[in-house]
Amino acid sequence: VSARLTITTGDPVTDLGARSVVQFEHRHGIIDLSWGHPDPALLPVAGIRKAAAGALDRYGPDALAYGASAGPAPLLAQIADRLEVVDGRRPDGDELLVTAGNSHGIDLVSTALLHSGDVVLVESPTYHLALRVFRDHGLEVRPVACDDVGLRLDTLADVVRSERDRGRTPRLLYIIPTFHNPTGRLMSAERRGDLIEAARALDLRILEDDVYRELSYGEKPPGSLWSMDDQATVVRLGSFAKSLAPGLRVGFLTADPATVRQISNSGVLESGGGIAHFAALIVADFMSTGEYAKHIENLRRAYRSRRDALVHACQEVMPAGASWSIPTGGYFLWVTLPGNVDPEALRAAAEREGMSFMTGVPFQVDGQGEQAIRLAFSRYSEADLREAMARFARASI
Ligand SMILES: Cc1ncc(COP(=O)(O)O)c(C=O)c1O
Repeated sequence: VSARLTITTGDPVTDLGARSVVQFEHRHGIIDLSWGHPDPALLPVAGIRKAAAGALDRYGPDALAYGASAGPAPLLAQIADRLEVVDGRRPDGDELLVTAGNSHGIDLVSTALLHSGDVVLVESPTYHLALRVFRDHGLEVRPVACDDVGLRLDTLADVVRSERDRGRTPRLLYIIPTFHNPTGRLMSAERRGDLIEAARALDLRILEDDVYRELSYGEKPPGSLWSMDDQATVVRLGSFAKSLAPGLRVGFLTADPATVRQISNSGVLESGGGIAHFAALIVADFMSTGEYAKHIENLRRAYRSRRDALVHACQEVMPAGASWSIPTGGYFLWVTLPGNVDPEALRAAAEREGMSFMTGVPFQVDGQGEQAIRLAFSRYSEADLREAMARFARASI
């Protein structure tokens, strides 16, 4: 009763206690490079307002009806056109499905292709929250080591063999070949081809998380694993979370027709219709007017300068013996620290100075120490990044 009273009289955000509109938690006095979130200043509020009006004008009540299971045709057509440009392969209509983003895509694929107790292989390190989704499904996760150009195929074969010796059959490899989170690494074209062959030989499906493809700051990245696959080995997940706005919750999945059909015939899509139908039509409108392509160019420019500002600051302040490679896309700089620096202690000291970051531990399957830290350059301006690293320098003395 009191909640109802306060909602009608006050500010709904504070009256609902700790509940907030957004996930980001602002910590007073801290420039927090631990979040892989976009800068709110780069979210196209006016453009999305216009696209929402455009979707309502064009589709009227159909914009608010239950949507087609695989997603509304106008968005499917826009995504197919865009993939032809940025990925060199255009999916056919029956190879594409709209999702609520890549987190949701991982969840959908875990439901459709896996059973509780199955083994999933991941890169080491990997996106920490994918680990959470797999574990929500009762899946067992095993790490596979990487080198500078991507997953090590000798180790992949060893891990599969040793799992089989234990009576377990790995079914799926989850991988982020393009501007990896957390390392920023780009898998080479050659390794991509070899990986697909290796996966087939090992009877593994590949779940490719392609969330950062649009955010490239140098040469165009190699085509996705999916773009190279003609034998239903790869399911690729794409998202508008990083390239447009995470709050829209719109992404997509490309795979062979049988897998797409299996997912689009699932109970959740039969019951609720297409995922995020209205948001999907907003994205379709935003793409059809050419706003999306312009927006991507702006993002690339903005994030490229932020990356440069952060790399430059690191050159000045990182302790002797620290190493990193310059990411050519994505959100993150991954710094390996010398053995005499404890990442956790460094983070505590950095927070006392007014900045923060993630240590490498959560990105490890076994949660064991990784002598590295992840700095996200997506959420803050160049000036804030420089200030953050000046504070970091004071912490590392
Ligand atoms: C590798 C990776 N996959 C998925 C996600 C989440 O994607 P979405 O917002 O589309 O669910 C992120 C976000 O940080 C990510 O880095």
